[in-house]
Amino acid sequence: MKARVPDNIKSIVPYPPGKPIEELEREYGVKNSIKLASNENAWGSSPKAIEAIRQSLNNLHRYPDGSNYYLVQAIAEKDGFSPDEVIVGNGSDEIIEFLVKAYVESGDEVITSHPSFLMYQKVVQVRGGVNRVLPLKGMHHDLDGILATVTDRTRLIFLDNPNNPTATAIEPAKLYSFLSDVPESVIVVLDQAYVDFMDYDKQVDVYSLVKNSKDRCGVVALRTFSKAYGLAGIRVGYGLMSAEVAGHLHRVRQPFNVNQLAQVAAIAAIKDTEFHEKTLRGVREGKAWLQKEVEKIGCASYPSQTNFFLIDVKGDATALHEAMLHKGVIIRSMKAYGYTNVIRVTVGTTEENDRFVHTLNDCLQELGYV
Ligand SMILES: Cc1ncc(COP(=O)(O)O)c(C=O)c1O
Repeated sequence: MKARVPDNIKSIVPYPPGKPIEELEREYGVKNSIKLASNENAWGSSPKAIEAIRQSLNNLHRYPDGSNYYLVQAIAEKDGFSPDEVIVGNGSDEIIEFLVKAYVESGDEVITSHPSFLMYQKVVQVRGGVNRVLPLKGMHHDLDGILATVTDRTRLIFLDNPNNPTATAIEPAKLYSFLSDVPESVIVVLDQAYVDFMDYDKQVDVYSLVKNSKDRCGVVALRTFSKAYGLAGIRVGYGLMSAEVAGHLHRVRQPFNVNQLAQVAAIAAIKDTEFHEKTLRGVREGKAWLQKEVEKIGCASYPSQTNFFLIDVKGDATALHEAMLHKGVIIRSMKAYGYTNVIRVTVGTTEENDRFVHTLNDCLQELGYV
C-alpha cells in the first residue's frame, strides 16, 4: 500500500483506554476481575434509563431525531439554559471535536495542561493545529503560565475542572479572575465531566460565565452522562455555550450524531434523581473510606474533587499496576504522566473497594514498598 499519511496523523499516539475486564481475563488467565481504571459509575446505570432503552428497541429502523429535541429540552431545563445554548454529542469527546473543527485551522494554537484529559491534544493534532502544552503546577492548572502563553494565534484553551488525572479543581475566585484576563478572541472550554462530584465551594456559576461574555473570552462548559449518570457505554455528553457558538458547532456536526437509545436513556437518567443521588453518596462515602484505608496500609492519598483519586504507593507504580492485574484488579499507573510512584483508582462499590484495598496491601508487601 502506498497511501500517504500526513505527518500530523502519523505522530498521533492512539488514546490508551483502561484495560477492559474481558481482555485482562483472556490475557492473564484470571477470573472475577474488577475494573477501577476508567472513572466509570460503579453502581451501573439508572434503571429508568435501561427501561427507556428497552421501550425504544422497536424503533431502531428509524433515524434518531437529528435535533435531539427532547434531550436538549431536558438539559436546558435542568441547567437553566435555553435550548439554543445546548449542543449534544456522542460523548463529550465529540463536542471537543466540534470545537476544534469549528475554530482551529492549520497552524492555530490551542493551550492545554499536562497531564490533563488526553483527547484535547489528539483532536488538535488531527486538525493540524499547534498544541501549546503547559505542565501542571503542584497538580493544578498553571493559570498564570497559560495566560502568558496566549498569542494572537490562540483559539481555544481547554481546562478540565476538575482535572483528570489529578482530581484537583480550580479555586472559583482564581478562575473568574483568569477568565477576565483572557482575550475576547479566545474560547475557554471548561470541561466539567466530574462536576457532580465537586464540593459546593469549588463549583462555579457556569450560567453567568456563559451569558456574560461581553468584552471578554467566550466560555463553553462540557458535561457528560458517562460518570454520575452511569451511561458511559451509550456515549452521550453535552456542551453549554452562547447561541452564537452553538450555531458554529451545529455547522460541523453530523445530522444524526446522537443515537436514538442514547437520547432516550439520557432523558430518563436526568429524571432519575434517586439513582444520581445514590451515585453521589456512594462516591462520597466510598472515597472517604478508601482514603482512610490506603493511609492505614502505608500509602498517601491525594485530595480529590472527583470519583477517582491518586495514591502515592511509595514505589514504582507500573510494577504495582502489573502485580494488581495478575490479581484481577485494574487500576491506572501514573508513571507515563511523570508521577513515578502514583496510581489512579476509581471509587467502586463497597465490595470492590474492599477487594482493592486487600489486593493493594498484598502487592505492596510482595514488592516490598511498605
Ligand atoms: C476530563 C474528561 N473529559 C471528557 C471525558 C470524556 O467523556 P465522554 O465519555 O462524555 O466522552 C472524560 C472521560 O473520562 C474525562 O475524564
